[in-house]
Order: sequence, then C-alpha cells, then structure tokens
Amino acid sequence: MDNRQILFAKIPVGAVTPDVFEFRDAPTPTPGDGDVLVRNIYLSCDPYMRGRMDPTSGYGVYFDVGEILPARVVGQVHESRNPDFKVGDFVWGFLGWELFTLVAGGEGLRVIDPSLGPISHAITVLGMPGRTAEVGIYDLSDPKPGETVYVSAACGAVGQVVGQLAKMKGCRAVGSAGSDAKVAHLIDNLGYDAAFNYKTVSSIGAALDEHCPDGIDIYFDNVGGETLAAVLERLNDGARVPVCGQISQYDLESSESPVDQDALLAKANATLGKFSIYKHMDNFDAFPPRMAAWMKAGKLVYYEDIVEGLDNAPDAFITMMQGENLGKRLVRVSDDPTL
Ligand SMILES: NC(=O)c1ccc[n+]([C@@H]2O[C@H](COP(=O)([O-])OP(=O)(O)OC[C@H]3O[C@@H](n4cnc5c(N)ncnc54)[C@H](OP(=O)(O)O)[C@@H]3O)[C@@H](O)[C@H]2O)c1
Repeated sequence: MDNRQILFAKIPVGAVTPDVFEFRDAPTPTPGDGDVLVRNIYLSCDPYMRGRMDPTSGYGVYFDVGEILPARVVGQVHESRNPDFKVGDFVWGFLGWELFTLVAGGEGLRVIDPSLGPISHAITVLGMPGRTAEVGIYDLSDPKPGETVYVSAACGAVGQVVGQLAKMKGCRAVGSAGSDAKVAHLIDNLGYDAAFNYKTVSSIGAALDEHCPDGIDIYFDNVGGETLAAVLERLNDGARVPVCGQISQYDLESSESPVDQDALLAKANATLGKFSIYKHMDNFDAFPPRMAAWMKAGKLVYYEDIVEGLDNAPDAFITMMQGENLGKRLVRVSDDPTL
C-alpha cells in the first residue's frame, strides 16, 4: 500500500505550468494514538490555490515549496486510532494532493452525512464554493424580485449556484462564460435567463447592453479586469458589486483598472466589496442541510467536472484555470464506493 504525493515544487511566474508540481512515491504512514489515516477519493482544484502559490499575490497565506499541496479532500477512513472516526466513515478536510493522508489527532477532519447527497458535494455545492455563492448573493447583496443579477464565470463552481439562488429570489439572471457550450449549459441546464460568450462577443459592454437592457442591479464578480470595468459603466442606482474573485488577473504581475472605479460607483450610488468566505464560516454547519434541502426540492442543480487519476491532477488544475471545466473541477484519485 504505497502512497503517491504531489508536491508544490516551484513558484509560478504567469500561468501555472506542469513543473510547478512534482510527484513523489512514499510509504503510507502508520497512525499513532489519536490519528486517522484517510484514503483520499476526491481532491479539489480551486482558483484560490493560484494565489497561495505566490507570496507576492497578496492572498495572505502561501504554500511552502516542497510541501504536499494542501487542498480540500473527500475521503474514507482507512485506519483509525481516534474514537471520533470509524473505519469506513466518509470524511472531508484540508488534506493534501496524495493518495493517503495521515491526519494527526483527527484535527480538522469532518464526518460527511451521506444522506445529504453524493459525498463529493461536501467540498463542492454543500461546501466552500456553495457557501461562497450564498454569502455573496444573499448575505451581502440582498437581491430583490425583478432585479438584474449578472454573474461572470457563471458555469463554474461558485457561479452556477449564484445564478440559481438569484432566480430563487425572483431576479433575472444573466451569465457569461468562455465557450458556446457553456453558454448553452447556462440557459438549458442552469436556468439563466440570458448568457453570452465573453470571448466571441464584439465587446463585453455591447453584450451587457444587449442582455441587461434594464441595467445591472447586482454584479457577482468572479473575473475582474475588463468585465468589471464594463459593468461599472452600466450599474443601476443602488447597485451592489460583491467581488468574489478576479481570476483574469491572477497570472498578471500587476493590474490597473481601465476606468475610474470610485467615480463610477459614486455616480450609481453603488457599493463594491471584496469578500472572503473565510470571514463567513461562523454558521457553516447549518449550510449543508439548507443547500441539500433546496437540491432535494428540485430548486437547484449542481454540476461537477471530474478528472480521473492523481497523475492528472496538475493538468486538471492548469486547464481549470484556462476554462476547460464545465462545473466544479475535482480529481478522483481512488474508488468512490458510493457510486
Ligand atoms: N471570495 C471567496 O472566498 C472565494 C471563494 C471561492 C472562489 N472564489 C473566486 O471565485 C471565482 C470562481 O471560482 P470557482 O471556484 O467557481 O472557479 P470556476 O469558475 O469553477 O473555474 C474558473 C473559471 O474561471 C474562468 N476564467 C479563467 N480565466 C478567465 C479570464 N481571463 N477571464 C474570465 N474568466 C476566466 C474559466 O471559465 P470561462 O470558460 O468562463 O473562461 C474557468 O472555468 C474565482 O475568481 C475564485 O478565486 C472566491
């Protein structure tokens, strides 16, 4: 029973390349008193990991070169010397990009309730990305019936939930994404009222004029850059702009807004605020049952984009950053016995 691991090997400059990752084979550790050995099943690939790779990114906490890539993982308890975890329990936690993780003292490990949905959901729609969507659109933006909500990266882990939550409040949801297949998915499967491919429109401003004829009341920003700039010129009075992320900027050394952000916000009497999900974790335990109930009632659907095999994890991350994923990107590194 050998372990295989992926280490953070090198700080990237620009887009992440395969040499940022390094593989290592290692013996599987033996749990000591209180420890839990987890067989990892699903590894998460998230854009924030790009920020953690570069100490100049401003993210705040960073990977150490040489460490096993830390990430959210769903797995199954393989050996346990901790009374809180039984062999066979499905668990999730901040583990690592490897086949087995030894969790000292069971620290941070959470047992998954499989009655809520597929076990992978613990790190997708019932986990960080789902709660991020809810915080940004419900807690911070107070959407009202009839308002226009525009979401960028609208097919992704977070964006697909935002549009559906906005629809549940009676809003008109407009999304953008980077392929025609994603645009069709937004309309056909995710219930968006309108959508466009930001890579092929003549300009993002013109696309917004076409698809948001009544202006924009809430812009859920996942991408920043020229999309944000175009939105700021089209905000309705009292508009809200929760800035969830700005992925178009993550590989750049520096960025500058092409518009006078403050002046445009003041003109529309609008508010813009960056938020981090880590500041909104207080009542997290109430979230998975709430979201699972919406899904069971058929109010919300969720798509995952699963790549097979640990050896494909670096490529899965790199291509997720390039937009290959249709839904939340995960890597399945071992058998999911619930399937
Ligand atoms: N505030 C928080 O606490 C928090 C938590 C989670 C995520 N986030 C942020 O939320 C955003 C979405 O994250 P996610 O996990 O849901 O990822 P995701 O949308 O599932 O995947 C990333 C997507 O970004 C799009 N993208 C890549 N480069 C782009 C560019 N230059 N311009 C426009 N779109 C681009 C791609 O889709 P296209 O095909 O559409 O280009 C890609 O599929 C990210 O900015 C992330 O950092 C923030």
